[in-house]
Amino acid sequence: MSDRGPEEAARGFYERMRARRSVREFSDRPVSRETIEWLVRAAGSSPSGANSQPWRFVCVRDGALKERIRREAEEGERAFYGNRADEDFLRSLAPLGTCERKPFLRSAPWLIAVFRLTRNDDGSPVYYPGPSVGIAVGLLLAAAHHAGLATLVYTPSSPGFLAEVLGRPPTERPFCLLAVGHPSPGWRPPEAAFARKRLDEIMVVCE
Ligand SMILES: Cc1cc2nc3c(=O)[nH]c(=O)nc-3n(C[C@H](O)[C@H](O)[C@H](O)COP(=O)(O)O)c2cc1C
Repeated sequence: MSDRGPEEAARGFYERMRARRSVREFSDRPVSRETIEWLVRAAGSSPSGANSQPWRFVCVRDGALKERIRREAEEGERAFYGNRADEDFLRSLAPLGTCERKPFLRSAPWLIAVFRLTRNDDGSPVYYPGPSVGIAVGLLLAAAHHAGLATLVYTPSSPGFLAEVLGRPPTERPFCLLAVGHPSPGWRPPEAAFARKRLDEIMVVCE
């Protein structure tokens, strides 16, 4: 008799994760610092190149700082949507309804600015920082969803301001900005966000 345990668990996890949607409007319902600490611990449990753990998670609850991040981000987005964006990218973004305004950067109870290290604090090297940080962010998103929280991955068009605003050293490069909280009651994800490639489009099996 075959052991159905792994299949059922994997299917259950899939069913849970497929219900995740990016949220761009947050309610003012707070999220505790302890919750955010558990999310970052989950991210920090990720695998990484030579276990070099090339990440930093700067967690922002301070309203004035969030407002400054919003202002700086929107300035970059105005330039992006105004003249820098290429046509194909704008066409791909249109069904998602994004624009130069980023009010979620102020309304989300927490922003987590994720930085990729170029070397560790003790000067030791890091390996495969891009893939390592990407995997860690994925785990953080899964942990947040598991905790009943909503997230958005936001990649500012001109991310350079993040290191300055958050006082980060030159060994930390902005990777992405996560908004974490609860969806506003009226939030509905855009239809386009539900589309996924079929299994046979993303999976090749050699057995
Ligand atoms: C690397 C990456 C960058 C993204 N950048 C942005 C962004 O700058 N602004 C935004 O509103 N959404 C951004 N998203 C969210 C995607 O638009 C979203 O994941 C996609 O449309 C699928 O929707 P879903 O997350 O609800 O499944 C980003 C997602 C990823 C993984």
